[in-house]
Amino acid sequence: MTRYQEIKIQLTSAPKTWLVTGCAGFIGSNLLETLLLLNQNVVGLDNFATGHQHNLDEVKGQVSAEQWQNFTFIEGDIRSLDDCKKAVGTVDKKVDYILHQAALGSVPRSIADPILTNSANITGFLNMLVAAKEAMVSSFVYAASSSTYGDHPALPKIEENIGKPLSPYAVTKYVNELYADVFNKTYGLNATGLRYFNVFGKRQDPDGAYAAVIPKWTAAMIENQDVQVNGDGETSRDFCFIENAVQANILAATAPDSGKNQVYNVALGDRTTLNTLFDSLKSALQSNGIKYQKSPVYREFRAGDVRHSQADISKAKSMIGFEPEFKIQQGIDKAMPWYVSFLLNK
Ligand SMILES: NC(=O)c1ccc[n+]([C@@H]2O[C@H](COP(=O)([O-])OP(=O)(O)OC[C@H]3O[C@@H](n4cnc5c(N)ncnc54)[C@H](O)[C@@H]3O)[C@@H](O)[C@H]2O)c1
Repeated sequence: MTRYQEIKIQLTSAPKTWLVTGCAGFIGSNLLETLLLLNQNVVGLDNFATGHQHNLDEVKGQVSAEQWQNFTFIEGDIRSLDDCKKAVGTVDKKVDYILHQAALGSVPRSIADPILTNSANITGFLNMLVAAKEAMVSSFVYAASSSTYGDHPALPKIEENIGKPLSPYAVTKYVNELYADVFNKTYGLNATGLRYFNVFGKRQDPDGAYAAVIPKWTAAMIENQDVQVNGDGETSRDFCFIENAVQANILAATAPDSGKNQVYNVALGDRTTLNTLFDSLKSALQSNGIKYQKSPVYREFRAGDVRHSQADISKAKSMIGFEPEFKIQQGIDKAMPWYVSFLLNK
């Protein structure tokens, strides 16, 4: 039995209380769904900056009425310390684990508005750390990012070898790691960072200027629009299916002390070029009855983007028992019916 299977059995027999910030967003709503299905109690915090009520409504439809009763939603902003404290609770009545996902994602967004990104990703993050350490929460797991590798050329990426950040967003995610480490050393808070590498799956927002590549291209293909490729298509990424990221969060929160206060790569440990991704999405759509016949449209490389990204996931494997269950094509095949239904019913 894997550690993940064991933990799921333990949690189901002795439910815990979790705070998921950013619960109306992509990763947060998937965490919420899995935790509720495991009969956990969940407090959610979100201000709907980029998240949606329809994500929460969808989770409600995936769980039983009893499981949904175990969810408490707080509409609030992590830039408010009071909202963070309300969500975390107090020493005598606090959540057991925090999965901190709320932030403003997207490199281009941070280049367009670095002050806004800074306020959510650094001020908001600091507020969450303060609320967590004051309530003496046993485990604070947060969404870090592969963007922290910046201009470091080595592949695959190993946690301790990072370069200089290439965007304001990357700065914020690196600052998160620095603050988390200092809060551990100074206040004894258990804080573990998960450096996500291009997570994808159902409920990842296909709309807006800052949509990620998989939902953006899928939407373009379903709507028979051009697919725009930044650069020559040979840029590569380590795409990580959402259920692998959910697994990493649950393993990190429940890790023994030896696995806490670390930063882990969360990915598949594989590398896919944008050209290959284009073909995979096209064929998955075809299996769902949609034939896309246009060729990709190549344009300039995008500022702030790294050329190649691939994780070494051996640290998460050995220290918290991370075993990604889904390869990229399996993830795409699982996500595609959701996108087809979501986009055709809009
Ligand atoms: N998706 C990826 O591939 C990826 C990669 C690396 C890191 N991350 C990080 O993972 C986390 C989740 O990303 P996601 O892809 O689910 O994005 P998302 O935009 O779908 O979710 C983020 C959620 O946080 C909420 N939020 C933003 N600012 C807030 C604020 N001030 N107060 C309260 N809530 C706020 C949003 O409304 C949204 O629901 C983020 O921290 C992101 O930086 C994601």
